[in-house]
Amino acid sequence: MGEKIRVLLTEEEVDRKIEEIGKKISEDYEGKEIHLICILKGGIFFTCELAKRITVPVSLDFMSVSSYGAGTKSSGVVKIVKDLDEPLDGKDVIIVEDIIDSGRTLSYLIEILHKRNPKSIKLCTLLDKPERRVTDVKVDYVGFNIPDEFVVGYGLDYNQKYRNLPYIGVVEFN
Ligand code: IMP
Ligand code: MG
Repeated sequence: MGEKIRVLLTEEEVDRKIEEIGKKISEDYEGKEIHLICILKGGIFFTCELAKRITVPVSLDFMSVSSYGAGTKSSGVVKIVKDLDEPLDGKDVIIVEDIIDSGRTLSYLIEILHKRNPKSIKLCTLLDKPERRVTDVKVDYVGFNIPDEFVVGYGLDYNQKYRNLPYIGVVEFN
């Protein structure tokens, strides 16, 4: 089975949106410091670009979670593959994700990270598929709402491929 990539959001559209979000976050956190948590691997490209656009002091940490299994579906079972290096006590945390689909990964993550006593936790995602939601997650910053299609690029993969595409594309199977 072969696959083809159709462009959904161009590099320019994504860059412009990240600049907007960076500006908004910088305004919202004026006078504070932000602890950005990048959810690996998908969140890495977005986190780097976003961090560069934030004008208040930023610290970074990384976490890797896997929702068991390859392919295009999340199973709902989440495992911490790499935990954070730093404690969260008293920090203003923003979790940075590539995409929210069912919402299972994030509702699990938020639950465990809240127990580490941060001052606040907000959620920022580049892409959101609201139609697919099965759990209630409050997202504070969203780049784009997209339809229920499997997308790749800008950190997002299909079986570990296409993360390096500088745009967001839809995988078409043929
Ligand atoms: P959720 O737990 O269903 O919200 O799944 C979130 C995770 O599933 C994301 O962090 C991605 O790793 C993956 N995912 C969901 N939709 C897509 C997609 O369209 N393309 C690539 N990965 C996706
Ligand atoms: Mg992910």
